[in-house]
Amino acid sequence: MTAANLRTPPAAPTRRAFIRLLGGGAVLAAGAGASGCAGGLPEVALQPWQTASTETELRRFMLAHALLAPNPHNRQPWVADLREPGRIHLLCDGERLLPETDPFGRQILVGCGAFIELAVIAAAERGHAVAVALFPQGTPAARSLPAGAVVATLTVGSAGTAPRDALYPAIARRHTAKTAYAEGRPLPEALVAAWADTARRHGLQAGTVTAPAEVAALRRLTREAYEIECTTPATWLESARLLRIGPDAIAAHRDGISLTSPMVRALHATGLFDPMEVPQRGQSSLQRVMDRWLPFETGSGYLWLASPGHTRAQQVEAGRAYVRQHLQATAAGVDLHPVSQALQEFDAMRGPYAAVHRALGVDPAQGAVQMLARVGYATAPAGPSPRRELGTLLRT
Ligand SMILES: Cc1cc2nc3c(=O)[nH]c(=O)nc-3n(C[C@H](O)[C@H](O)[C@H](O)COP(=O)(O)O)c2cc1C
Repeated sequence: MTAANLRTPPAAPTRRAFIRLLGGGAVLAAGAGASGCAGGLPEVALQPWQTASTETELRRFMLAHALLAPNPHNRQPWVADLREPGRIHLLCDGERLLPETDPFGRQILVGCGAFIELAVIAAAERGHAVAVALFPQGTPAARSLPAGAVVATLTVGSAGTAPRDALYPAIARRHTAKTAYAEGRPLPEALVAAWADTARRHGLQAGTVTAPAEVAALRRLTREAYEIECTTPATWLESARLLRIGPDAIAAHRDGISLTSPMVRALHATGLFDPMEVPQRGQSSLQRVMDRWLPFETGSGYLWLASPGHTRAQQVEAGRAYVRQHLQATAAGVDLHPVSQALQEFDAMRGPYAAVHRALGVDPAQGAVQMLARVGYATAPAGPSPRRELGTLLRT
């Protein structure tokens, strides 16, 4: 090396070379996997986790807990109308649907069910029973969820009408752990029994898959489904648009998929990282995405939750049951991570949708697998994910 070329900076890599180096798709996959991590997330976006229990007015107390519910892509598609005293009308926020990955709004309703259940548990903490009336203005059609649909009316009973729910303390500790899990560690038998019981109480069925051959088959299936989601432009782009890159964007939106890595932020700021580039089969961009999927093929196995039909009410019940199962897991020191791609109802997913139902013994003509989650023991503790401020949900 001569003195001359020592002084000459190396040629700047082209934009494309940089993206190849980093792998735009890999970043998105990492983000999808890392959105639950507290590391680097701005404090303001996490405040709702700390302040829920400090709300004094009962309906605000209920809603401050409800908004901590698990929900697809962390869209938080909730509006709470408080204009009628003693009641909460829960509306589906039409601006926050996922038309590509969730074309019928099924997953959105599962998230609404989780929201309702946490509101009910919180009310019980203060001694109030809640009557839940689903779809008081009519049940939405099976294949279209209208913006602003009233999902439920919650009528709050008087004090002393409900005992405390033992799962309340787990609400603010429940997080979806999206890291690698310990391999093959057995699940507590009491927890597996509690999951089945919870499903039954909601008119559903739950099961676990832990036999190595069956776990391997489900891993293959979930992987295939993820590859389809990534290579289908509309579904990839739906997720890409929900990326929140860096603390400012995360604090501004407080939803979606959070990316905090300094490298990603720098490349994005200089225009060198473009999440809108869709991975393509046969190209290394897809390989890098799939490499980032590998931690999602670890764990003790899978938990599944199925309904004996495809009704809208069953979708909401699935959310109520799922969040209880997650709280039961949290209380038992077990982690859950939904892997929903194979359950999505867009056309290109038909093969994995049929296969996952076959594998779990659910006839899609009779019923639906509503949730599929890997289960086990995360190798790193999961932190909270962003939530919007309570006030943004309220209609008063
Ligand atoms: C119906 C439903 C489907 C979900 N599907 C996925 C999924 O496919 N992949 C994933 O990483 N998380 C999935 N999640 C978990 C959400 O990403 C998570 O709940 C959300 O980001 C909020 O984070 P938290 O649960 O830690 O509060 C799903 C949650 C629900 C309710």
